[in-house]
Amino acid sequence: MALHKGSSNGHRLSVNAFLGEADPIGAMREAPPKHRLHPVSLPPRVAYQLIHDELMLDGNAKLNLATFVTTSMEEEADKLMAECSDKNMIDKDEYPQTAELERRCVAILAGLWHAPEPDEAVGCSTTGSSEACMLAGMALKRRWMRRNQARYDAGAKPNMVMGANVQVCWEKFCNFWEVECRLAPMEGERFHLDAESALALCDENTIGVVGVLGSTFDGSYEPIQEICEALDGLQRRTGLDIPVHVDGASGGMIAPFLDPDLIWDFRLPRVASINTSGHKYGLVYPGVGWALWRDHEALPEELVFKVNYLGGDMPTFALNFSRPGSEVIAQYYQFLRLGFEGYRAVQQSCRHVARHLAAGLEKTGAFRLITRGDQLPVFACTVADDVTSFDVFDVSRRLRERGWQVPAYTFPANRTDLSVLRVVCRNGFTMDLADMLLADLERVLPELRAQPAPLQNRGVEPTSAFHH
Ligand SMILES: Cc1ncc(COP(=O)(O)O)c(C=O)c1O
Repeated sequence: MALHKGSSNGHRLSVNAFLGEADPIGAMREAPPKHRLHPVSLPPRVAYQLIHDELMLDGNAKLNLATFVTTSMEEEADKLMAECSDKNMIDKDEYPQTAELERRCVAILAGLWHAPEPDEAVGCSTTGSSEACMLAGMALKRRWMRRNQARYDAGAKPNMVMGANVQVCWEKFCNFWEVECRLAPMEGERFHLDAESALALCDENTIGVVGVLGSTFDGSYEPIQEICEALDGLQRRTGLDIPVHVDGASGGMIAPFLDPDLIWDFRLPRVASINTSGHKYGLVYPGVGWALWRDHEALPEELVFKVNYLGGDMPTFALNFSRPGSEVIAQYYQFLRLGFEGYRAVQQSCRHVARHLAAGLEKTGAFRLITRGDQLPVFACTVADDVTSFDVFDVSRRLRERGWQVPAYTFPANRTDLSVLRVVCRNGFTMDLADMLLADLERVLPELRAQPAPLQNRGVEPTSAFHH
């Protein structure tokens, strides 16, 4: 969460006098302070209205093409979520059926990701992919420490290899768990990790390689199979056995449905663990994620804690303790409701819209596509080489005027010279909306082309504060 600083200014909320009739106890005689606890209670209607009105300033989730996170679910899912928001996931003994549905979700994912023995795969729900990645990283570190205890005690520092395009959760993992983060920089038109760049960074202290399906920066899939094969070769030559974790935050719920022939999952013996975000293409509201290990061996037993469950002990692996049951139940609802064919249809439609939108942008002549929406339903583009009057930040700003949130950002090392727009197509972002976005873009392009130069070059800071 954002780390906020306290505020002691004396600002108060202003209560509409019209609501005064709902103030039988006179609680609103003094307006509630913004940054201190109000000394007395408010009627629920007044409290609701004050908060509701303030939240109207948030963006429209449907027009938010920056987020990967689900922004619409069915009424039945909403209903189940409301019914389960008072259930604590950790109270396995009190809510055994919630625990059972979580177990079924893990089993479904083990099947989707081709665990060699689905009954042997172990997994858990988390608050999102970030927590899942922390857990997977911890397991890799512990396995490496077990194999290298003497050298670790003597000061060897574990490292993890990944592309510079990883989501920030991996840099967090390395920072929090004191693992050296070995980032393969982007190079030319290579915008993610490949086998060669991964191999070049591996040594005897590498706890694992992270392969991303697909990249947060541009939606491209990293070549997981090639990376695994390169590591197989390394093992044959040197004896070093380096496991791979697949960060399938988004792609873990796309590839099984749209790219069944792509080999990226537990079919590769080197893949030790996989994570996904239930709240991205798993089609559930935030926050739910999943982490799965191919078998018990991949998850060191000493990391697992036991909680009381129907008089017995249920193994759990999590960073936090209490968590609402709603999202896990909603995940099971989506699995049950959509089935394989339903998920395939939803993801196919997202890919269709993404490709259409990417092609539409290219057709304007103002943009050069970096990716085309044919892996994740996500694409990135930059301005065409002959465009000098505006940049991607200007486009992002102008689209914002119509409510569209299309982030613009700069790529990491060694391509900090490249700035892109990224568009994430999700369930609910229809072909009609895509065409409306294209029409709005066509409307602003003549004005952008008429600018003397990009606003940045004229001393205006880019407004996009987009973080991966
Ligand atoms: C590849 C990748 N990994 C991890 C994450 C973090 O996921 P979450 O938001 O579920 O914690 C993201 C989020 O965008 C992502 O794209």
